[in-house]
Amino acid sequence: MENSFVIQELVKQIDRLGKEVIWPAAIEADEEEKFDRKLFSQLGEIGLLGMVGAEEYGGSNLNYSDYVSVLERLAYYSLPYAVTASVSIMVQKMIEDAGSEAQKKQYLEKLISGEMIGSFALSESHSGSDAAALKTTAKKVSGGFELQGSKMWITSGGLSGVYVVMARTGEKEISAFLVPDGAPGFTLGKKEKKMGWKLSPTRELIFQNCFVSETQLLGKVGEGFKLALSALNKGRVTIGAVAVGLSQMALDLSLAFSKERKQFNTLLNQFQGIQFMLADMATETYAARALVMQAAQALGNPQSSLSQKNASALTALCSMAKLKATDVGMQVTTDAVQIHGGVGYTSEYHVERLMRDAKALQIVEGTNQIQRMVIARNL
Ligand code: CAA
Repeated sequence: MENSFVIQELVKQIDRLGKEVIWPAAIEADEEEKFDRKLFSQLGEIGLLGMVGAEEYGGSNLNYSDYVSVLERLAYYSLPYAVTASVSIMVQKMIEDAGSEAQKKQYLEKLISGEMIGSFALSESHSGSDAAALKTTAKKVSGGFELQGSKMWITSGGLSGVYVVMARTGEKEISAFLVPDGAPGFTLGKKEKKMGWKLSPTRELIFQNCFVSETQLLGKVGEGFKLALSALNKGRVTIGAVAVGLSQMALDLSLAFSKERKQFNTLLNQFQGIQFMLADMATETYAARALVMQAAQALGNPQSSLSQKNASALTALCSMAKLKATDVGMQVTTDAVQIHGGVGYTSEYHVERLMRDAKALQIVEGTNQIQRMVIARNL
């Protein structure tokens, strides 16, 4: 009961920010690639960034199903802010689950309050889908490790205060490091010019003799790849939730448009061809939401038979949620542009941006082909 009140209040706050701040600025922010840092801090102030965070660091310790329902609402107004939040929260949870007390003290409060953003750095230019083939190395030196190499397509690169960097500590051994912004030998590479998600910067990270103190090793030496894959289970469910929010907005815009636009002297919503499209968009969005919610419930409940007894069934379910919801996101936003016709192809009506934003969701946190591979392996 208490939780549902907290969730309702959070959704109210997101609706307020969405209607007053995010949506009116969405077209310009996309065109000018303008990330509003103050707005992101407000997401911390209202409690969104700490929803699943530990109470002793300012979090609310709610479960994943509550979290995804609020994240979906943020994505309804802005996919890029929702993705920034979801990746930063993924980093926060990695530190909470695997970090030392000192690391938790150093980072969690800041990530939960929104004072700091976190990035997840696994991919490299030659290892996207085959993540284990990464080449960045971390050599043991006195007092810590020295990182050499580079990371690609890093969400929030340049905005973040901490980067979880997966690097090779041995031929068959990958470890995770918390690399603070400004670490010696750490520089930012080029900012990518992207099709969508324009206000969220995606950058290369470069490590040249980058010294990281041994206090910044996350978990144990050699645990990095498993930590990353286990974090991705959660990340994939949240990406699914983000896709559902995006689909819902595309559907709502299309419904509203079909009630106003006339052709052949008839409102669009009176044509069965349009009605069938809207019916499919709504059905698929509902189905995606249900699957995301089921995965979130399995993640968020330690008593769940799925998460306790069968880790591989949980991994498959998380991948299914990501696969289904992001494929639906692509289809629904494409149909939204089609329903809008010519104006749908212009920026003024928003749906072209939603369609561009949707495409990235089929690629990030493991392409949808990788999700199918993970599902098949775990069947
Ligand atoms: N949780 C914990 N451990 C796991 C796991 C999981 N979900 N999945 C696998 N593991 C373990 C395995 O049990 C295995 O352990 P052992 O060595 O002890 O047997 C180990 O991890 C390696 O697993 P695999 O043998 O399955 O590894 P693989 O190399 O064959 O394939 C893969 C793994 C699934 C293809 C993986 O590389 C993958 O997911 N690739 C996609 C990469 C990806 O998702 N990138 C996302 C980039 S981040 C991003 O996009 C975020 C952003 O900023 C938007």
